[in-house]
Amino acid sequence: MNKVRIIHGPNLNFTGIREKDFYGSEFLDDINKRILERAEELSFDAECYQSNSEGDIINYIQSCYYEGVEAIIINPGAYTHYSYAIRDCIASVSIPTVEVHLSNIHQREEFRHTSVIAPVCKGQLCGFGSYGYLLALDAVNEILINQQ
Ligand code: DQA
Repeated sequence: MNKVRIIHGPNLNFTGIREKDFYGSEFLDDINKRILERAEELSFDAECYQSNSEGDIINYIQSCYYEGVEAIIINPGAYTHYSYAIRDCIASVSIPTVEVHLSNIHQREEFRHTSVIAPVCKGQLCGFGSYGYLLALDAVNEILINQQ
């Protein structure tokens, strides 16, 4: 079973509470439930993780390396726009990574248009709400099939 880890960054535990026009009204637990259901259909060994701390996210990504995780899906929240530390960490583990955003970051404030994470990811999905995570699982499936 391919190990896939889904990482939600800062404030994403407030999904369903915060700015619903951008992030929807579903709570993170419900989103994670749908992610895990789809992951099971794809026969992935999946785990969802959320942290509001940059260092904890880095430690978790490094633990993915030691656990032999095959793919990562990450919504880095606001860290997307300035965390060179998370970017370096993703680059260092060489695990195929897909970036996801609930909102379309390119339609919003200028500072959100830049992702310092995107250059070290296979691709970026944004603007599809929580469905983006399911699309990301399908993308991971495709990446892993093509790697064989
Ligand atoms: C977000 C977009 C970011 O700009 C923002 O800081 C978030 C959520 C999204 O999922 O749309 O916290 O990553």
